[in-house]
Amino acid sequence: MDFEKLAAARYSVRAYKNDPVPDEILNRILDAARNAPTAGNKQPFRIIVIRTAGRQEELGRVYGREWFTQAPLVIAICAVTDEAWVRKFDDKCYSFVDAAIVFDHLILAAADLGLGTCWIAAFDPAAAREVLVLPEGVEPVAFTPLGYAADELKPKQRKEQAVLIKYEHW
Ligand SMILES: Cc1cc2nc3c(=O)[nH]c(=O)nc-3n(C[C@H](O)[C@H](O)[C@H](O)COP(=O)(O)O)c2cc1C
Repeated sequence: MDFEKLAAARYSVRAYKNDPVPDEILNRILDAARNAPTAGNKQPFRIIVIRTAGRQEELGRVYGREWFTQAPLVIAICAVTDEAWVRKFDDKCYSFVDAAIVFDHLILAAADLGLGTCWIAAFDPAAAREVLVLPEGVEPVAFTPLGYAADELKPKQRKEQAVLIKYEHW
């Protein structure tokens, strides 16, 4: 899809069909994520693909909305802090920035291939650590269901360019 159309067409899907996602489509989406840029090309992230069948209850502890487990797949992205690029001037670690860029590639690739997603940050991190068996130094950053939408795009609510974009200085 033309990129401008894709950016306009992607939306947060909050109702899913349980139709299976073909492995070939899943792999194309995961590869688009793998192609994302990361600071210093450190690739300090791991993506976890979770099949929801039979795991609705434990996943419900991570994020309690009914639609979270309606799709056949849930994807999590985790930051591996020790692997990340750190800015020398102020020790700012870029692992969350990298993870967000990678996840957005995944989400846009999914939309391009006709699949729905929804960024989820309001999950319970302690439950996420337990359910995903995350080791020390690995931080869960975001989740999304991955499946075919059972709802539709509504008009987007966005601030005007004049509010969001400044030129030359603040
Ligand atoms: C970093 C991030 C975290 C988000 N967390 C949640 C969430 O926990 N639950 C949810 O329902 N939507 C979540 N959203 C979706 C936003 O509410 C949504 O993107 C925004 O309202 C704009 O709507 P749109 O995605 O349909 O264009 C999140 C989005 C982003 C980018």
